[in-house]
Formats: sequence, C-alpha cells, structure tokens
Amino acid sequence: MKKPKENKQASWGGRFSEAPSELMLRFGESVSFDRKLAFFDIQGSRAQAEMLASCGIISEKDCSEILRGLEKIADQIAEGKFKWDMALEDVHMNIEQALTKIAPAAAKLHTGRSRNDQVATDMRLFFKSASLRVQDKIESLMGVLVSLAEKNSEILIPGYTHLQRAQPVGVSHHILAWVEMLCRDLNRFKGVYESANISPLGSGAIAGTTLPVNREISAEIMGFTDSKGRAVLTQNSMDAVADRDVFLEFLSACSIMAVHFSRIAEDVIIWNTSEFAFVKLPDTFTTGSSLMPQKKNPDSFELLRGKSARIIGDMSTMFALVKGLPLTYNRDLQEDKPAVFDAYEQAMICLDVLAGALSRAEFNAKKCAEAVSDPLLLATDLADYLVMRGVAFRQAHHYVGGLVALAEKTNTPINKLSDADAKKVCPHLGGDWREVFDLNRAMKMREKVGMPGKKQTAKRIAHWKKFLAK
Ligand code: ARG
Repeated sequence: MKKPKENKQASWGGRFSEAPSELMLRFGESVSFDRKLAFFDIQGSRAQAEMLASCGIISEKDCSEILRGLEKIADQIAEGKFKWDMALEDVHMNIEQALTKIAPAAAKLHTGRSRNDQVATDMRLFFKSASLRVQDKIESLMGVLVSLAEKNSEILIPGYTHLQRAQPVGVSHHILAWVEMLCRDLNRFKGVYESANISPLGSGAIAGTTLPVNREISAEIMGFTDSKGRAVLTQNSMDAVADRDVFLEFLSACSIMAVHFSRIAEDVIIWNTSEFAFVKLPDTFTTGSSLMPQKKNPDSFELLRGKSARIIGDMSTMFALVKGLPLTYNRDLQEDKPAVFDAYEQAMICLDVLAGALSRAEFNAKKCAEAVSDPLLLATDLADYLVMRGVAFRQAHHYVGGLVALAEKTNTPINKLSDADAKKVCPHLGGDWREVFDLNRAMKMREKVGMPGKKQTAKRIAHWKKFLAK
C-alpha cells in the first residue's frame, strides 16, 4: 500500500494520518498574502518569548536562543532569502518552523498562544503602523494643497451647485475645502490607531491559557500602552479573537478618504475640460491617445475616481465577511487580509498621485476671470442689497428673479439694464444698485468665519500652515 504523504504541519499534524491534498493546500494557504505581516509576526513572537521567560515558563537561555533566531529570520526576510512554503499555510507557521530549525528552543515559543490571538495581534500592529503612514501622507497632501491655495489666492472662479454657476469664490477657498475633507480623514486614521492599540495576545484560541502568563508584559513590549505607558489589554478572550472592528474602521476610513479623492478628482476633471479650462495639468500625470494626436487626458484623476470603487469594494468585502459569523474565530476570517492590504496599498498610492499631480497644476487666470465675470453670480448679492433696504428676503428674491428674467429676455447683462427698466421691475433699487456687481465688493462682504473673503482665506491658510508645521 502506498504510504500516505507525510504531514508537514508540525504544529497540528499529530492527529492526522494523511496530509492535506495539494488542492486543499492551495485553497487554504494565506502565506502568499499574509507574508506582509512577517515583521509584525516577529515583533509579536519576540514579546511572547520575553514574556514567557519573565514568567519563568521558559528559561532565559531558551529565550535568547529564540530571539537570536528571530533576528536571523528577520534578516533573511529583509534580504529576500527566506523560503516561503505554501504547504505551511501561513506566515505564522512558515516563520515558526524555519525558526525551530535554527533555534530548537522555538518549539516552546507557541506556549500559551494560538494562531487566533497571534493573527489578531499581528493585525493590530499592522493597523497601528499603517494608520501612522497614511496620516503622514495625508499631511503631505494637505501641504501641497495649502501651497496651491496660497499660490493662487488672487484667482476667483464661479462656485457651482448642480454644476450651475452659483456664486463667486476664491479658487483657494475651493482648494481649502478639500483640505478640510482631508483633515477629517486624518482624524479618522488617528481614531483607527487608538482602536488598534489594544493587545489581544494571551487570549489563546478562545479561552486564554492555564499557564501563568502575564499579558501586561507582552503588551508593554509591543507598545500596546496608553499615554502613561500602561499596558492596554482586551478584556474578553472570545471577543479578542473574533473581533474585526478595527478592520472595518480602517476600511471605512480608507473608503471615506477614497470618496474624497474621487470628488476632488471630479472637480479637477471638470476644470480641466476645454470647455472650462480653469486648470492645466502637468504632462507627467496625464496620458495621450494612441489614435488622436491632440489628446491629453487626465487619466491620473480618472483613476483616482476609479480606485475609490475598488476601495469601497474592499470595505464591503470585509462587512460581508463578518456579518454572519458566530463567535469566535472561523477560517473565513483569513479572507480579511487581502481586502485590508489592497485598500491600504491603493490608498497610499492615491495619496502620492494626488499630491504629485496637484503640486504642478496651473490655473489659467484669464479663463477663470472670464467665467467669474458673469454678473448673474451676484444675483443673490442684489437680493441681500434689497434686504438691507428693508425688503423681506422672499420679496427681494422675487424682484431679482424678475430682473434676471428681463435680462435674459432682452439679452442684456443684468447690470447693464437701464435704471428705468430695472426700477419698473423693482421700485426699491437705489441709485447705487449697480455697485453690487463689483466682484471686489462682493468678496469683501464675505469676511465672516468660514466664508470665501480674502482675509478669511488668508487666515485659514495661516491656520493650516501652523497645523502642518507641528
Ligand atoms: N492564517 C490564519 C488567518 O489568517 C491564521 C489563523 C489560523 N487559525 C486557525 N485556527 N486555523 O486567519
């Protein structure tokens, strides 16, 4: 009789007489993607070894051997020399088995630990690191936008609602709106960091361990500590291995940010059309057409819009994955990582691309001035003018509507209607009614908090510069 294939699973092979089929191995492996966790896994194993030694569960000698071995494995991985083996399923078992070969004491490393609390720990370390990196990039992008706003602080454009010309704003005010959005993203990732900063290690597979471990020690070594340096620990071993809330928070934060990228991209794409021509994009972030020699397409921004769909997809993968799961760990949860890694990598490159493309965007002052010279952008200001003369706003709105209709009917700019014609429609107009259509005046009158006046904008630019210099 053919001898069954030897089971390579030193970690769980004991009760099995046959090895998993090649198909099962390929189906079940996660090392092809979770190897990204290698350094976090090693960080967790170091803490585990040191904790076991502090508690007298393993000897100091065994601990040093394990730590030296982990160092070597880390070097091999960093140098690309580590041999990953699909048959060993995941990053945890690949590392542990390679380690045991060079450091036999590593057979004691998994004492009081399960892959369930191990993977939860690795991922929390990953989220802490990832959310810090994302925050750095968000701040760089905010810096690029603040510079762009400052550089173009003289330029006015129409602001739009329903993609119809609405009211005049500084292009800086528009760009600073994007900065506000990104600052909220920044805060969300700060929140993700806080949520991730809790150590699940020691929860074991589901119900902890009978061994005299000390969870505070490993938590402190890994940096799962509060502002006073005290260990922060999960308080329920079942929740600790089943919980994937940080994953959902991270993916939600990535998705909201990606939606911001997409909306910013849409603004830029519109401004970049020949019809608008408010902004010119650098050659380095645009592409040509293989057929039409004249084309210069804003592909980087279209991709930013497209990537948001992908990142939202990653988020819905994660929500769908956990929604029907009973406590605690189920193997379904292995599928949590591709979604997280993909969203992370895509969010990071989106941040770079947006910063790169916008740092060299150039506004066309002439085109912007042409567009913003439309006097109808100040129709609301005329209604406000009437309010200041004692007319109720609803009434004022109606009068100005009548003037707009007359201007349209006679094909005359609203501010070029004759006094006689205008006063026939609205008897409340004073001799100075045309001054309303002076853009400078209009902007000067918008200097309250949050408004697009020049001084307000300058204040906000100063605020962001100070914020980013911290
Ligand atoms: N590769 C697994 C995952 O990512 C690690 C945890 C495995 N635990 C288990 N009980 N099979 O989810």
